[in-house]
Amino acid sequence: MELNLQGRVALVTGSGSGIGRDTVFKLAEEGCKIVVSDINAGSAHETAEDLRKAGHEAIAVACDVTSEDEVAHLVAQAQQQLGGIDILVNNAGIVKDGYLTKMTEQSWDSVVDIILKGAFLCSRAVLPQMMEKKWGRVINISSRSLFGNPGQTNYSAGKAGLVGFTRALAQEQGRFGVTVNAVAPGFIMTPGMRNLPHFPKLQEAATAKVPVGFLGEPRDISNAVAFLASDVARYISGTTLFVTGGRYSG
Ligand SMILES: NC(=O)c1ccc[n+]([C@@H]2O[C@H](COP(=O)([O-])OP(=O)(O)OC[C@H]3O[C@@H](n4cnc5c(N)ncnc54)[C@H](O)[C@@H]3O)[C@@H](O)[C@H]2O)c1
Repeated sequence: MELNLQGRVALVTGSGSGIGRDTVFKLAEEGCKIVVSDINAGSAHETAEDLRKAGHEAIAVACDVTSEDEVAHLVAQAQQQLGGIDILVNNAGIVKDGYLTKMTEQSWDSVVDIILKGAFLCSRAVLPQMMEKKWGRVINISSRSLFGNPGQTNYSAGKAGLVGFTRALAQEQGRFGVTVNAVAPGFIMTPGMRNLPHFPKLQEAATAKVPVGFLGEPRDISNAVAFLASDVARYISGTTLFVTGGRYSG
């Protein structure tokens, strides 16, 4: 299938590591110019450098997605250096797990803000360019946890909220040639996860719950993102693509 993403400019938030890092590589392999962005400036620059070493065009801009000023700076840099953004992947996300009765306000606010306020600020900053070009893609990285995981009321609420955000924004943007979709990953083995001391146990417990019998890799998510970013997916908007090996709630 020809995705025809040649020459598009893609911004992926939180792309200094994990799923975001693989997504920028996948989109670059499909011909996109890349804006790597992360709150961690070092990892953003390293990822952009690795992309350039692999022969791709990429810039790095450090940005905390919860800061309106930093998001404005990020989008201005992308405009100046690469000529504007065609594809936005709202990928930045964190967990701060704990049962609700013991959850601090800071744990609630930080998790929900990065997921929801981050998607709001980044989308609001890039959409005017997309609307003007009459072409754009917004892809929000939600999670299977939107069905509700114990110990993750903050994260589950944020990721479920992101699906509502996706559906509402898709309806606002359709007439401008902009599609808005979500991808909901299941358990994905990122390098960070593989390095956890209890990873073998975690892997065994998680695998038992996945119908296909194995855990996902970052490339399973970045393939879905690239598909939704392409013209092949032009009639898909407002949907959530579950990439979970067949696992839904439970
Ligand atoms: N790995 C999984 O199994 C899994 C499953 C479902 C959903 N997800 C979602 O996928 C996305 C990527 O997760 P990952 O597993 O690659 O995690 P990760 O921790 O490897 O990557 C997240 C990146 O976001 C960055 N980040 C954190 N706060 C930020 C902020 N305020 N502004 C900008 N960047 C910030 C981090 O520095 C990090 O580089 C997240 O939204 C996560 O919720 C992951």
